[in-house]
Amino acid sequence: MLPEVLRHLRCPVCGAPLAAAPGAVRCPAGHAFDLARQGYVNLLRGRSPGTGDDAAMVAARETFLGAGHFAPLGAALARAAEGHAGRDGLVVEVGAGTGHHLRSVLEALPDRFGLALDLSRHAARRAARAHPRLAAVVADAWERLPVADACAALVLDVFAPRNAAEFRRVLAPDGALLLVTPAPAHLAELRGPLGLLEVDPDKARRVSEALEGRFALASSESLAWTLSLAREDVVAAARMGPSAHHTAADVLAARVAALEEPVRVTAAVQVQVYRPTPNAA
Ligand SMILES: C[S@@+](CC[C@H](N)C(=O)[O-])C[C@H]1O[C@@H](n2cnc3c(N)ncnc32)[C@H](O)[C@@H]1O
Ligand SMILES: [Zn+2]
Repeated sequence: MLPEVLRHLRCPVCGAPLAAAPGAVRCPAGHAFDLARQGYVNLLRGRSPGTGDDAAMVAARETFLGAGHFAPLGAALARAAEGHAGRDGLVVEVGAGTGHHLRSVLEALPDRFGLALDLSRHAARRAARAHPRLAAVVADAWERLPVADACAALVLDVFAPRNAAEFRRVLAPDGALLLVTPAPAHLAELRGPLGLLEVDPDKARRVSEALEGRFALASSESLAWTLSLAREDVVAAARMGPSAHHTAADVLAARVAALEEPVRVTAAVQVQVYRPTPNAA
């Protein structure tokens, strides 16, 4: 575990700092958490009700993102990070998935270290390998995050659960939350033909309500681009998202086979920067 990240981690049981031990990390009270062979550490306090993305969803996400289809988003995040990273502090991504976007941000911030948090151990396994300055931890975004107060210069949340109180606690007072949400047009051309779930049209309002009182919007950028996809990319796009378990593999394959290549699809996201408000609860 990278010492630059480990010093900011906290025991999920008692909140004390964690230190390196052979094959594990451990707090002074003796709560110990094994380092997985694949390089991440599981800091869940007990069983979590959810599991996060399964192995197939994470593999699909790796394939899709690895093909560069979301490169404009990576570039936008890198720009936002450069403008808001302050002088020091971690870059913490919540629901980091494969660590793909965190890698883009760390490449733009050569003196920073990153922490990828995800409930899925399949995701943590991939994220642990995503960048040499990144550490991966299994944690539940709806619990207290296993990190110190005010340790983060940036919190990233890309299509992931948003726990406003915890984001506020872990951010430095001059830090920023970089939040990415899908716009209604996102992957819209695939929704009908493949039977994917719709983006909640009320999403933007629900997001701003959830952050109200703790964060103030500093900037908002609508980003849209056109994807030109092979059929296998379309399958990966369907398999990596919330609709992954809604359609049987053979049904999906038949629907995708009916599409004409290249399949032109809109990617449309909102990239928002929020500043923590002073005197937050
Ligand atoms: C739509 S994916 C986005 C992944 C990544 N941010 C990206 O854009 O590639 C949502 C991620 O949130 C994770 N997740 C779901 N519930 C979670 C929770 N309660 N705590 C932490 N992560 C969670 C999933 O495992 C998954 O990796
Ligand atoms: Zn402890």
